[in-house]
Amino acid sequence: MLESLEPVVSLAKRRGFVFQSSEIYGGLSSCYDFGPLGVEMKNNVKKAWWKAMVQDRDDVIGLDASILMASKVWEASGHVEGFSDPLVDCKGCKKRWRADHLLEDRGIKPVFKPGEWLKQDVKCPECGGDLTDIRKFNLMFKTFMGVVEEDATPIYLRPETCQGIYTNFLNVQQAMRKKLPFGIAQIGKAFRNEITPGNFIFRTREFEQMEQQYFTHPDEKDKFFKMWKELRMQWYIDLGIKKKNLRFRDHEKHELAHYAKQAVDIEYNYPGMGFKELAGVHDRGDWDLTRHSKFSGQDLSYFDPERKEKFIPHIVETSDGADRVMLAFLLDAYEEVETRSGDEESKHEKEVVLRLHKDLAPIKVAILPLSKKEPLQKLSNQIQTELRAKWMTQYDETGSIGKRYRRQDEIGTPYCVTIDFDSLEDKKVTVRDRDTMKQERVAVDELKDFLEEKL
Ligand code: GAP
Repeated sequence: MLESLEPVVSLAKRRGFVFQSSEIYGGLSSCYDFGPLGVEMKNNVKKAWWKAMVQDRDDVIGLDASILMASKVWEASGHVEGFSDPLVDCKGCKKRWRADHLLEDRGIKPVFKPGEWLKQDVKCPECGGDLTDIRKFNLMFKTFMGVVEEDATPIYLRPETCQGIYTNFLNVQQAMRKKLPFGIAQIGKAFRNEITPGNFIFRTREFEQMEQQYFTHPDEKDKFFKMWKELRMQWYIDLGIKKKNLRFRDHEKHELAHYAKQAVDIEYNYPGMGFKELAGVHDRGDWDLTRHSKFSGQDLSYFDPERKEKFIPHIVETSDGADRVMLAFLLDAYEEVETRSGDEESKHEKEVVLRLHKDLAPIKVAILPLSKKEPLQKLSNQIQTELRAKWMTQYDETGSIGKRYRRQDEIGTPYCVTIDFDSLEDKKVTVRDRDTMKQERVAVDELKDFLEEKL
């Protein structure tokens, strides 16, 4: 078990998973770029989510709504008024803190009635200085739409993706002739001007959400809340996260978001941070559609032909952050093992194996010709051309074979295909399995089927 995020942060940078945004300018705080392997892995995370949530189900359909939405959306959603964190500043070192986090660290329930905060006598954790009273700090990024800034309409970068689903509820329901219960899913960017971002890609100011909103009759809401809670947890387990590192945590009344009637977090045991939110399942009741009906003047109720009843659907939301989820998958897959590959000269004291689920691994097959000589290269190129039509492959012909295996283990590649001089004669290659290190000779013309079965 790791003791901090550090080894994974360092691997992520070294091997091209995640870079600091604007690094050559000193970096932009809490914004990250996904490198060649990071973009593959994040796409795989999103693909796995889409498959489980949309492709494999009859009752959930997809959407891709615009990031920029009418300002009124955010008044209706309650974000203009209520999407803020309690901010305090240190009068000494000027560092900013979230007052609720400081109270939680002392085991105190963060309830903020006027004057309550100052009674707590909390000091700055950094320098011990006095802290200011609380200010509410809205987390939405504001910008302007239009040519002349002074006349332009203020507009917000969406802080959650789901609002585009609510405003399209009737469009989707009517276009797809859907009957309740059904869900709408979408993946997209969200932005929050977080006061205390950090811990690598755990809390950033620009991130991606994978959200699904399930519209139901109020009587069935509890049943579906339970169903989604279990399904979302199972998704993480199926993709390889160890059960012992996952748990549910019900929200207490005082921590419920302004829209939520009940909520549960799926928490992950982040090294050095302990159990923290990975994803959430929220019972949003009829808050969203009622508010959008009121603010837009459009009736967003639904007529149920079986019940012969018209009502505002209730919503059970599942919300997962693609970046935070990717961090959890990387952390859980990371393992340092005793030296296990290579000849004497290339042996190291410890090796890193990223035991990623095959569906999530950025590269599925590495092609490793034992020599750069022409006949081996030709056969290796042919093999790569055939395999890359189906999977992400990587060609590596530099260094000893032990070093090359280690390079692939470190990025989680499930299979390495080694082409040697015997391959020219017997038309067979060696396939090495990342986890078992078992090596098998496989005929070149059976290789694709062999890997197909494994992958
Ligand atoms: N629509 C509901 C909603 O946005 P949330 O609990 O605020 O709920 C849902 O966010 C998920 O989005 C979180 O569980 C987390 O995975 C991800 N998330 C939220 N804020 C984030 C941030 N600043 N950086 C990275 N991921 C974040």
